[in-house]
Amino acid sequence: MFYISILLQLLVSDLVASWPVSYNPGSICVFERSSVYFSCTFDYVSYRTLKTTKWFKPEAHQKQDGTQVGISVYNSVAAEIHQLYKNRTTYANQDKNCSLQLHNVSRSDSGRYFFRFETYNEKYTGLGGINLNVAVLPFRVTVKPQRLNGHIYEGDSVILTCSTENCTPKQELFFWFKNQRLIPQANENVLRISSVSHNDFGNYSCGLKNSSTTSADEVLLDVRYCPKNTEIAVLPSGKIKEGNSLTLICMSNANPAVTNYTWFMIKEANVSYIGSDREFSIRSASQKNNGQYFCTAKNDMGSQNSTVIALEVEVPGRRNSMLTATVVFLFLMAVLLVLFGLIIWRKQFPSKKPPTEQTSAFTVTVTEEIYENLRKSSESEENRTTCVTYADLRLPQSTSDRPRCNRQEGNSVIYSILSYKD
Ligand SMILES: *[C@@H]1O[C@H](CO)[C@@H](O)[C@H](O)[C@H]1NC(C)=O
Ligand SMILES: *[C@@H]1O[C@H](CO)[C@@H](O)[C@H](O)[C@H]1NC(C)=O
Ligand SMILES: *[C@@H]1O[C@H](CO)[C@@H](O)[C@H](O)[C@H]1NC(C)=O
Ligand SMILES: *[C@@H]1O[C@H](CO)[C@@H](O)[C@H](O)[C@H]1NC(C)=O
Ligand SMILES: *[C@@H]1O[C@H](CO)[C@@H](O)[C@H](O)[C@H]1NC(C)=O
Ligand SMILES: *[C@@H]1O[C@H](CO)[C@@H](O)[C@H](O)[C@H]1NC(C)=O
Repeated sequence: MFYISILLQLLVSDLVASWPVSYNPGSICVFERSSVYFSCTFDYVSYRTLKTTKWFKPEAHQKQDGTQVGISVYNSVAAEIHQLYKNRTTYANQDKNCSLQLHNVSRSDSGRYFFRFETYNEKYTGLGGINLNVAVLPFRVTVKPQRLNGHIYEGDSVILTCSTENCTPKQELFFWFKNQRLIPQANENVLRISSVSHNDFGNYSCGLKNSSTTSADEVLLDVRYCPKNTEIAVLPSGKIKEGNSLTLICMSNANPAVTNYTWFMIKEANVSYIGSDREFSIRSASQKNNGQYFCTAKNDMGSQNSTVIALEVEVPGRRNSMLTATVVFLFLMAVLLVLFGLIIWRKQFPSKKPPTEQTSAFTVTVTEEIYENLRKSSESEENRTTCVTYADLRLPQSTSDRPRCNRQEGNSVIYSILSYKD
């Protein structure tokens, strides 16, 4: 059909080679309420022979090939102009320039437009005409290609198109929104994503730049992906006290949503299954809950393990007693150290007070006398128990360090007692 029509056109243009009309472009898409410009040139023998010029539009029920003249959109005879197009056109009206501007385009203006001129000898319609499509707002976002099941998976190549019901004006600048945020450098009415990732999941909208026209309704780019960023949240947060209740929540980002959760506990290199809900609850935490935990999130697309968390239950009682024990121990140690230090100090630096020195000097003399006395007495009375007692009591301790001991008051007292006994 296409070739035949071209052939026909060639034939016709050959026949009327001297009267050609050319349109550019052959098809136009404009927005409602905007103006459209039909670019047109024509050629004829002499301007003076031109009788009428007109743009017409075949009516819906007529042939759309230009053979049937419909309503006058523009006519050099103003009275001929159809009511619908009065005051809405601007005709170039120049030599060989048949361009026409149509203002405030509405949906009903859609159709094919032809230029026709008549001389006193000839009538000629420019074949083909210009097809006008009126883009009726609002915009819509369409997503292609989709798989047979209508799903989009990570790695797919996707084209989002911003269009209206009938057509989309190409020469316009567009903007794209993803989740209400402008996508930079996206100016065309198509948005190509060569390899979709889970980050592309979201609501998309588009619209005309520098225009008050409303933007398209949001369309969800429903990218399907296996669970991502799987991690465990512990509630309540902070330290876990023995006896408190505790909830571990397996959190994951997945589309479609996670269908199966699995909980595991690692204890002494043993991994054991402990649950299959999104949440794993511990009613009363105790030492046996100590260990490492992780969960697995699974959807149709696959599964992912969470990071491993370690749980340590704090035992308040034991901790306190441990603390007390440590404090007591440290205190005792300190006391012992002080005592020991005192003993050492006393041994190395005996009392230096002048009066004590005098008494001790005195004692020395006394004790020497006592010893003499003792010796004397023991010589005289061989079987006296006091001697035995003295030897038992005093000798093992004092014989070795008798000179020092002599200066000690305590010893001197004992000696004096002894001497008293004597
Ligand atoms: C066209 O415009 C003229 C003046 O600009 C006005 O008098 C006439 O009523 C208008 N006609 C229509 C159909 O709007
Ligand atoms: C035809 O006229 C319009 C203005 O009426 C002008 O903008 C356009 O350039 C002209 N076209 C040619 C081919 O001269
Ligand atoms: C444009 O056309 C519509 C009807 O299609 C009309 O309601 C509107 O007032 C017109 N606007 C202008 C500026 O003429
Ligand atoms: C997309 O829009 C829907 C409906 O407005 C909303 O429920 C959903 O949360 C949105 N998604 C994102 C990722 O913003
Ligand atoms: C996941 O859960 C569904 C039902 O909720 C069950 O039929 C299926 O066996 C589970 N899959 C695994 C791997 O646990
Ligand atoms: C691991 O668990 C099994 C079965 O509960 C048990 O027999 C084994 O002793 C455990 N191993 C360790 C290291 O705890």
